[in-house]
Amino acid sequence: MSGNFTKQLNQLKQLASERCNLRQAFNDDAQRAQRFSITACGISLDYSKNLITNSSWQALQQLAVNSNINSLRQQMQQGVAINNTEQRAVWHTRLRQQDVTGLMLDGEDIGQQITECRAKMAALVDNLHQQQYLGYQGKAITDLIWVGIGGSLLGPQMAVEALTPYHCSPVKLHFAGNIDGAVVSDILSTLNPATTLVVVASKSFGTEETKQNALAIRQWFSQHGADKAAIAHHFWAASSNITAAAEFGIEQKNILPLWDWVGGRYSLWSAIGLPIALMIGNQQFKALLAGAEAMDQHFFSAPMHENMPVIMALLGVWYINGHACQAQALLPYSHYLRLLPSYVQQLDMESNGKSVDHTGKALPYATAPVIWGDAGTNGQHAYHQLLHQSALAVPADFILPLQVKHPLKNHHQRLAAHCFAQTQALMQGKTLTEAIAECLAQGMSKQHANALAPHKVSPGNKPSNTLLLPELSPYYLGALISLYEHKVFCQGAIWQLNSFDQWGVELGKQLSGPIYQALAGNSSHSFDNSTSALITQFLAAQD
Ligand code: F6P
Repeated sequence: MSGNFTKQLNQLKQLASERCNLRQAFNDDAQRAQRFSITACGISLDYSKNLITNSSWQALQQLAVNSNINSLRQQMQQGVAINNTEQRAVWHTRLRQQDVTGLMLDGEDIGQQITECRAKMAALVDNLHQQQYLGYQGKAITDLIWVGIGGSLLGPQMAVEALTPYHCSPVKLHFAGNIDGAVVSDILSTLNPATTLVVVASKSFGTEETKQNALAIRQWFSQHGADKAAIAHHFWAASSNITAAAEFGIEQKNILPLWDWVGGRYSLWSAIGLPIALMIGNQQFKALLAGAEAMDQHFFSAPMHENMPVIMALLGVWYINGHACQAQALLPYSHYLRLLPSYVQQLDMESNGKSVDHTGKALPYATAPVIWGDAGTNGQHAYHQLLHQSALAVPADFILPLQVKHPLKNHHQRLAAHCFAQTQALMQGKTLTEAIAECLAQGMSKQHANALAPHKVSPGNKPSNTLLLPELSPYYLGALISLYEHKVFCQGAIWQLNSFDQWGVELGKQLSGPIYQALAGNSSHSFDNSTSALITQFLAAQD
């Protein structure tokens, strides 16, 4: 299956070896920015500072046409089990569809189920906002602990942070993800069980970290005198495993459903989005869904050459497979978007970080990049040095909201200036001649200038995209996340792999069981020499 793409790889590599000089390209074509820009759902993408020429861009577009993107996006909509290793449909886009009336999958009225779930979430949010949800001692709930990890945490955590100016909840939110006991201990040390609600968010309801944290919190309730009924009243779940949630002690009426057709990393549009709805309110949560749906409609209907997710996917493939780049930086120039890189890490790396195609055949080419980044301008004073002057080429996405809600407009002008300057500097660089001239203009001797100038040279020709959002509102955030989801989808389609399973995470989970037994002092397992020595050191350090 991977043969189709393999055939086109040589052409890609050949085209990539023909040097594209970006400085020159901009000098030669006054319309380059306009030609390589697109707007969708109000978000604009300037991809002119990429190493593309007319001919390489045409070849890339042909790659999209020849790929499975079109057929897969149709199958996605039809509910075909394109997650073939788990035999599941991929329907997270349905979760943001405003009108889900009559939506059926395998004979089930999914539309009805989605509608009921939305209503239950909204009622809980209203109850909490109006401080009508009373705890077991009759006091209003003041704090909600969201217990989950991976896709059951990263999405809501990122979106809640991103939408800080929209917060309107009287209830404080706490995220408990890591199994590091410091997380739950720190959270519990500030809370009162009588005014604390807990939501255990786990699609499988089998994830060790989430179960362990939930158990610790349940015990904390007991230690404070809450009985079984009181605990049941304070615990909710978002899960597709109703049986396991019920066994834990969560009542049916407190379970928000999930479905096997929504992958963890694609689930913030479902009940996993409850923390977002809680913090920004039900109306704004709807706006988040609407923005994502608008991007879905663009993705499902726009022709390949005018399709923003497709364009971003092609550029990614161009760098990974044509230019052998292994990393991709995500640089939001927005403090509120600082968790976006961690979120996209899971989205991209867990979806496409694979070595076999969807039939199980080894792939002869690289797939997902290492995603990293942080909010600008912080990174400029840390790792941008490497972006500008190292021999590594790291394509970067710069993201900037045009309008902000805070009153410091001059800060925003300076932030934007840095964002645009970084993309310009990466593109044009600084030549030796320019560096020498600069040194001389600063009054250095010729000898000093010649000695220092090589250190100031930036090769330039480093690719970047610039994404501009009208503002960081729920609507545009929804559209932005949906854009990245579909970008990842298109890349998976081009690479002919299954973007919706994650078997690679299982081995570590399996191996941790016997090691945990050894650390708890009751193991008869034998380990490799290194692991044994680490276990011995750990045991020796315990009281
Ligand atoms: O271990 C990986 C993973 O399965 C992710 O894909 C998922 O988002 C996360 O764990 C949490 O899973 P769950 O929601 O089932 O607890």
